[in-house]
Amino acid sequence: MVVFGVSLTLQVGELKMDYITCREPRCRQAKTLAMNDLPLADVLPISASLNSDGRLAIQGRDVRGIVEEFGSPLYIYDEATIRWMCREFVENFRQFYPETDIEYSTKAFSNPAVLKVIEDEGLHIDVVTGGELAFALAADFPVEKINFHGNNKTRQELMEAVDVGIGRITIDSFHEIELLNEVAGALGKTQAVNLRLSPSIDPHTHRLTSTGILDSKFGFSIETGDAEKAVDAALSQPNLDVKGLHFHLGSPLFELEPYDEAIEYVCAFAARMKYVHGLDMQEFSPGGGMAIGYLRSKLPPSIEEYAETIANSLRSACRKYGLDEPRMTIEPGRSIVGRAGVAVYTVGGIKRIPGVRTYVSVDGGMGDNIRPALYEAEYEVMSADDPCGEFKGTATIAGKFCESGDVLAKDVKLPDVKPGDLLALPASGAYCVPMASNYNLQTRPAIVMVTEQSDVRLIRRRETYADLLSTAIYE
Ligand code: LLP
Repeated sequence: MVVFGVSLTLQVGELKMDYITCREPRCRQAKTLAMNDLPLADVLPISASLNSDGRLAIQGRDVRGIVEEFGSPLYIYDEATIRWMCREFVENFRQFYPETDIEYSTKAFSNPAVLKVIEDEGLHIDVVTGGELAFALAADFPVEKINFHGNNKTRQELMEAVDVGIGRITIDSFHEIELLNEVAGALGKTQAVNLRLSPSIDPHTHRLTSTGILDSKFGFSIETGDAEKAVDAALSQPNLDVKGLHFHLGSPLFELEPYDEAIEYVCAFAARMKYVHGLDMQEFSPGGGMAIGYLRSKLPPSIEEYAETIANSLRSACRKYGLDEPRMTIEPGRSIVGRAGVAVYTVGGIKRIPGVRTYVSVDGGMGDNIRPALYEAEYEVMSADDPCGEFKGTATIAGKFCESGDVLAKDVKLPDVKPGDLLALPASGAYCVPMASNYNLQTRPAIVMVTEQSDVRLIRRRETYADLLSTAIYE
């Protein structure tokens, strides 16, 4: 029925659907659907399709059927999309810069099943807390492939990390230079480290997710002279082995220029540090931050474009400043898991305020996805029962939490929906579940993964009231 690279139209009952291949030239699996004029393929998992009942399916599994089995709200992850994104990064970056490691940033979504896929695809990971480290170790992730980030790691966290033989620690403050040197010394070890720099470059994203600007808690600023002092201080610590330099500008970054600018600036700094302090930058990381398509009308550059820009910038800056080409680490989080996840909610009450707005309430909200409330993040919304349905009007998708700001999507176009219908929010795989809370003592949703063999596996069970009660102390 579907022909790769060819767009064809077919009739299912009254429904007219345009099957369109994914915009990504390398994506051979995406053959999904269009809602009105814009293709949904770019925001849905690559295995998404419309089944013979006209409903949304992932790897051939009916989303309604999955929800009937595992309950609502539900986060559904597509294994094929995660694997595909891992390969996109590895192949594209190595094509332009062979000495590249891809390090998945587990804060975007950490789960044993996901970590297994990440390990299987040969990626490294980063963690930012002792909890994330414990999670990775419990999943038997190879410790030498773990990098510890974070602007205020505690002595306890550093001890745990050094003790288990963590591969890298990315140092973020003067306090940490001394603390880590002391901790490593006490454990009789030399710790391999990188220094996180702040290059004062505006990545043009939400202010709350901009990190490489001057006014940021992260990194040693090159502009203020702190970065040079940090290089000098770190190189003189007997228990630290300084491997190189790192920066992370922020996220999501839809533009390529900020990477280019920052790489040039940091390499100029590295060259100066080489001659003044003898720094040998064997390793270099421009962080993560690659964007994903949340909205069909705002799609990011391809991974190939990010790779080409970053690799070319690094190579030409090294040439210009007389540096040996370092090993490079790319740290994607969102772009590995974001598109793989779809959040599914059940419609409850519908409130129509004539001339003002229609609120469609669902059984989740800011407790499982704080991003719209926190960053004004926008999502596509579609009926999982009728993804290609004709728009009948606009609706505001409200959550069930006791806050007026608990809105998942404002004034989105939808077909007619009624209580019991399922709404799907694509591109929900990154930073929703990890930032979820128990506000209003709401239990957090279950998570399933649809495997490449079309099995649906529960990868985190739904919380129960007993979970909520378990940490409370009743005299
Ligand atoms: N490396 C470092 C040092 C980071 O701080 C981050 C993200 C990443 C890599 C991964 O960035 P990504 O590729 O996922 O964009 N909660 C926010 C995002 C915060 C990102 C924090 N750091 C959100 O929901 O948009």
